[in-house]
Amino acid sequence: MKKRILITGGAGAIGSTLANQLSKNPDNRIVVLDNLSSGHVENLKMRKNVRFIQGSVESDEDLNLVWKDKIHAVFHLAANFANQNSVDFPQRDLQINGLGTLKLLLKAVENHVERFIYTSSSCVYGNRREPLAESCREFSLDTPYAITKLLGEQYVHFFVEHHGLKAVILRYFNVYGPNEYPGKYRNVIGNFLYKAIRNEEITVTGTGEETRDFNYVDDTVRATILASQKEKAVGQVLNIASGIETSVNDLVEHILEITQSKSKVVHQRKRLWDSVTRRVAATERAFEVLGYRPEVLLRDGLKKYYQWLKKTDLDKCEW
Ligand SMILES: NC(=O)c1ccc[n+]([C@@H]2O[C@H](COP(=O)([O-])OP(=O)(O)OC[C@H]3O[C@@H](n4cnc5c(N)ncnc54)[C@H](O)[C@@H]3O)[C@@H](O)[C@H]2O)c1
Repeated sequence: MKKRILITGGAGAIGSTLANQLSKNPDNRIVVLDNLSSGHVENLKMRKNVRFIQGSVESDEDLNLVWKDKIHAVFHLAANFANQNSVDFPQRDLQINGLGTLKLLLKAVENHVERFIYTSSSCVYGNRREPLAESCREFSLDTPYAITKLLGEQYVHFFVEHHGLKAVILRYFNVYGPNEYPGKYRNVIGNFLYKAIRNEEITVTGTGEETRDFNYVDDTVRATILASQKEKAVGQVLNIASGIETSVNDLVEHILEITQSKSKVVHQRKRLWDSVTRRVAATERAFEVLGYRPEVLLRDGLKKYYQWLKKTDLDKCEW
């Protein structure tokens, strides 16, 4: 049976990788809704079964256009990304991540969508030292982005309980890889690689002993697709991560070695909102529910991302 799949934010770093993977199956009809505020339509492989709509999850008109045909599954990745962006533009953050998510959920329920995947973030956990488990109920929300990502989760729970929506909440940990253009509001790995390629100074905020859980985009996307297929996943909150803790200093060392860069490393004070000294995911639940285990080791993922960046027009990056 042909399946129509909506991917919001499908021109973004992760959404486009997801769209390109799902469109390999000719039985899937992919509809991408993206306003291109941080996405790039060139990220998408425009196969015959892919339709791109430039529009917004906040717009009733655009949502009506999407729902001219039946949609079986929704992957909701559109977002105002991420922490610093939300600190600079908190109203836009609420508008997109809050109201946009609510509008999409209403539409999904009205049109009897069979599966709804909501992409949340590890930032809802805030600063905790132990491996972060989904059973944790104490949130520490350091930025408007963390607040609205959790708000989105709460709306999803409401729609699951009140309307019987078959939804899954995925908490992505730091995702990296091809299709992510470095830039002012982008992630640390892409930005460090960008600087390393240009032999420019790499700025580490904090001591560099801070840790994160970096997960390659292909692994993240594989888990996301599994979440849309497994019945057991419905109603669950799942960490999607590598389960491996890496310090920022070790990350920089790998990057300098892989790129053979002459970049100097300088340290700056942490950003005021950044209180997280240690972050690593507990991954047992994702394995139990999805059978998901990450496959790409950090060094291999970094090499792949580096190869992609080298052949990409980096003038598009916004700083
Ligand atoms: N990248 C990460 O490390 C990470 C970590 C945790 C969670 N996430 C979540 O995963 C999702 C995808 O992240 P990403 O890294 O691909 O970010 P991204 O910025 O590359 O992708 C987001 C996409 O949403 C689009 N968009 C923004 N506002 C929109 C709107 N109003 N209507 C339609 N489209 C809109 C943007 O143009 C962009 O293409 C986001 O929801 C993000 O919060 C990402």
